[in-house]
Formats: sequence, C-alpha cells, structure tokens
Amino acid sequence: MKASFANAQGAAVARAPTSGQIRLAEQCRDGPPPDTSIISTVPASAYLCPDRFRAEKERLFGGMPLLIGPSAMLPAPGTMLTHDGFGLPLLLLRDPEGRLRAFLNACRHRGTRLADAPEPVEASQILCPYHAWAYGLDGRLKALPRPETFPGLDKAVMGLVECVSAEAGGLVWVAPGPSADVDFSLARGLLAEDFDALGLGGMHLYARRTHRVASNWKLVMDAFLESYHVQRLHRNSIARFFEDGLSAGDSIGPHMRSAVARLGGLSGVDFSDWAALRRIVTYAYQLLPGAILIASPDYVNLMVLMPQSAGETLVEDFMLIPQPPGTPEEEAHWRKSWALLDGKVFGAEDFMAAEAGQRGLESGAVPDLLLGGLEQGIAGFHARIEALLAR
Ligand code: FES
Ligand SMILES: [Fe+2]
Repeated sequence: MKASFANAQGAAVARAPTSGQIRLAEQCRDGPPPDTSIISTVPASAYLCPDRFRAEKERLFGGMPLLIGPSAMLPAPGTMLTHDGFGLPLLLLRDPEGRLRAFLNACRHRGTRLADAPEPVEASQILCPYHAWAYGLDGRLKALPRPETFPGLDKAVMGLVECVSAEAGGLVWVAPGPSADVDFSLARGLLAEDFDALGLGGMHLYARRTHRVASNWKLVMDAFLESYHVQRLHRNSIARFFEDGLSAGDSIGPHMRSAVARLGGLSGVDFSDWAALRRIVTYAYQLLPGAILIASPDYVNLMVLMPQSAGETLVEDFMLIPQPPGTPEEEAHWRKSWALLDGKVFGAEDFMAAEAGQRGLESGAVPDLLLGGLEQGIAGFHARIEALLAR
C-alpha cells in the first residue's frame, strides 16, 4: 500500500486539541451538567413519510456539500474510484498534481458509464469502453478514434462534466450535482481545524465496509446523538469504557460536536496533552446532511449515510489509523478494533437498533417518539433538519 497522499505531501497536522475540543472536555468535567429534566417528542412520520423523504433528498442531500469519505480513500496521485451511493454516478480521482476531482461517470459521446471501481485503482487516463474516447485525469477529452467522422468537433468543450469538490480537514466533499450551488465553507473553517487536530489528513485507511441498513437514515443518526443507550444496548461491547451519560455538546455551523467522557475521571488530566485527553474523552461529530465521525483514543471511524428510501440507508464505515500496520501484532490490534466497532458495536448493535426501530414505527404503535433528558441531542438534530427543510 502506498503512503497516504497527505503523508506523502507532508500535510501540516496539528498535534494539539483545538480550543473548542478543550472547551467541551472542560464542560464535561466542570459542568454545569445539562438539564436532564427536559422531555420532547419527534413525530414518527419524520421517519416514515415518503414525501418527507423526497424533501430531505432534494433539499438536504441535494442542497449541501456531500461528505463522500476520507482523503485517504484516494491515496495517491493517479488513483481513481467510482461512487454511486448518493444516486449521483461519480468518478473521483486524484490528478497528477494531487488535486481531487469529481466528474460524472458518463462519456460525453453517448453517455456510457465509463468505469466501475468501487476500490481505488491506478489510472493514467479514462477510456470509454464503447468507442474508446479517451479522457485525461483532468477530465479533458484527449483523443477519439476516427476523428474525421466527427467534423467540426471541438474537443475543448467535450470534457467530462465536473462537480465542484473540496478537501478539508482530511475529508472529501462534493457538490450534489454539476450545477449545484452549495456553500463549501460548511466543510472548512473550524470544522476542518478540529479534524486537522485529529490528524485525519495524514491517516491511513485501514478498512471500509458498506452496510445496508433497513431503516430511515435519521434513526441511524439518532443512535449517535444520545449516550442513554450506551450502558444498555452496548452492555456487552463498549459500555465498560464509558461513564453513563456524561457528555457535553455544541455546534459548528449546522454540524454538531460532542465530547463523551470515558471511564477513569477527567480531573487531573492535562487537556493540552492530546493523547491523554483522547484516552479519557471520545469526540463525536454529527455532520450534516448525514455523516458521523468518532475519534476513539487511537483511531477514527467515519460513517457516511446514503439514504436510498424512507426505510433503507447505505452506511459506509471507514476506519482510519495513524499509519499502516508494521507488524503482525499491530495488524492483530487493528483487526480487533475493526471487528469490535464495525462488526459488533455499529453492525450488530446500533444499526440493528435502527432497523428494529423502523419496524416498530411502521406498526403505527408510536405516533410520537419520546425523548428523555439524555436524548435531547436528537431533538436538536431534528430541529436543524426542520429548519433546513423550511429554507
Ligand atoms: S459512448 Fe463513450 S466513446 Fe462512445
Ligand atoms: Fe451506540
């Protein structure tokens, strides 16, 4: 495996927490504790109604930059990957200068799908399988067979159709269409500073897996917006690492950030010591429209939610580690973490709970879901969604 692109480029990686990350840890330690006496509800229709789902697809997933995955998914210049989870056929590639580009995966001749590469492949050009029109990694039409049969064709205007993209904080964001006018400042700034502090851009992609979850995408998000379930649903997996419901949260624009206290006590920890802080606090980010990033003490999971229908969601889970495993022991260590988080905690617990929730809601038994004092992060998330839909 090649060194990650960011490593190869020597990307600047902060090795200290940001002031926002420290502030949340202080809030966990010093309080005041959040008011846990608040109760609210979310209507079941928010998860079930097909019209509501269409509005979310159009205005959220069609109106904001889409987080596709970590920069490490395209590890080196001259690598290419296809991506279809959002219903937009994308051809993602890193050009020879290392710049990320996102094109529609369709030939400008007669529209043929150009490539199928769910895993990254090396590429020096893109060749249409039908009539062999050849495109460069910058998207330009370079050559076509029998060009004299297309008199007057201006190759300069027949390049691949591009979607605007951005890389920030070690994450890849793409506009939800070639003509979409979206605000990439939502991906940059303070959010990217936090991810730079975690060193995301220099990390190695250890594993990725796409789960097909039979639930509304918001039921998956909900599972990462409250800590009430951690000691219960995860009693046989990660409950032993965490305090019960001790967390603090805030916002970065429309995105949410939380610090969840791990067992061991926050007092006496030097919060400027990043390794010590990460051993005692797990940071989680709920990114709109639909992604979750969880920073465990020595690795990061990123989950990208791709809604397929009101009751079905694809969730791609990426696990990022500081560097490729160098020994069999290191490999075994990361394999165990991957099996615990992706296989058990997410796959067999959180996603299963989302599926069980969807089935229960479809029965009509619960017209309004009840949110207790430790679950108000869910209420805040749904309020954001409502506000974005009302724009
Ligand atoms: S459709 Fe691509 S070369 Fe003809
Ligand atoms: Fe969970």
